Amino acid sequence: MAKIIAGIGTSHVPSLGAALDHGKTQTDYWKPLFDGLEPARRWIAETNPDVCIIIFNDHASAFSQALISTFAIGVAPEFQPADEGYGPRQVPVVKGDGELAWHIAESLILDEFDMTIVNEMPVDHGLTVPLSVMYDQPAEWPCRVIPVCVNVIQYPQPTANRCYNLGKAIRRAVESYPEDLRVAIVGTGGLSHQLQGERAGLINSEFDTTFLEKLVTEPETIKSMSHTEYLREAGSEGIEMIMWFTMRGALDDQVNEIYRFYHVPASNTAYGLLVLENE
Ligand code: DHB
Ligand code: FE
Repeated sequence: MAKIIAGIGTSHVPSLGAALDHGKTQTDYWKPLFDGLEPARRWIAETNPDVCIIIFNDHASAFSQALISTFAIGVAPEFQPADEGYGPRQVPVVKGDGELAWHIAESLILDEFDMTIVNEMPVDHGLTVPLSVMYDQPAEWPCRVIPVCVNVIQYPQPTANRCYNLGKAIRRAVESYPEDLRVAIVGTGGLSHQLQGERAGLINSEFDTTFLEKLVTEPETIKSMSHTEYLREAGSEGIEMIMWFTMRGALDDQVNEIYRFYHVPASNTAYGLLVLENE
């Protein structure tokens, strides 16, 4: 039987990918952040999951206003890095797992989560930066990837609670797959940030650190927080944090915290990283 062994939460700041791609990880600005990734990277290398289910959002790279899907799952054999305006990142092609992805799609839809099924989807920094966080710069990504794309761009976004329940449904899907696979689930996005308007540059460290603590220890107490509260406290792009609930929902109620890291600044955001293990 396939099993969800761990959950990882990480911001997906695009300039973190650019720093890596352009050899700037040892500069005064970036070194403290990249040093902070090291314990997580060592744990991931040792744990070496077969498959990573990555909960991310597209930033108008694969989709546009022409089609706004609340939840989408990628079932293709591979996903190309997207061209986000400067050419695609020079990172390996993301290899999928069509068989497991179709199994999860079927299980989720019969479990009343109506997923959009995607056969073709270039993946932007929302997905490739978390892979760089986890694996640095390998010649090939060491795991197969199932992309699960959540609309956090266009109102109305799903609620955090809906994302949390999606995680629980993903766990049921994975655990009904007969092959012995070790699966990690990755929640990406955030933390507090606002990229435009009067409050551009907003970072709320108190809100972020409380969020990380409660997400680990008592997610049920914050899963009903409203979109307005995210906007007010974490800025217009802070709403990306709801995707961490899908990762958390797929884990046990009580988890083993392997690692936590929080760092400011990373471009316009606070950078956050969590590694959690099912007991
Ligand atoms: C930034 C952060 C994001 O999460 C994103 O999607 C785009 C930009 C930033 O901090 O610059
Ligand atoms: Fe983003």
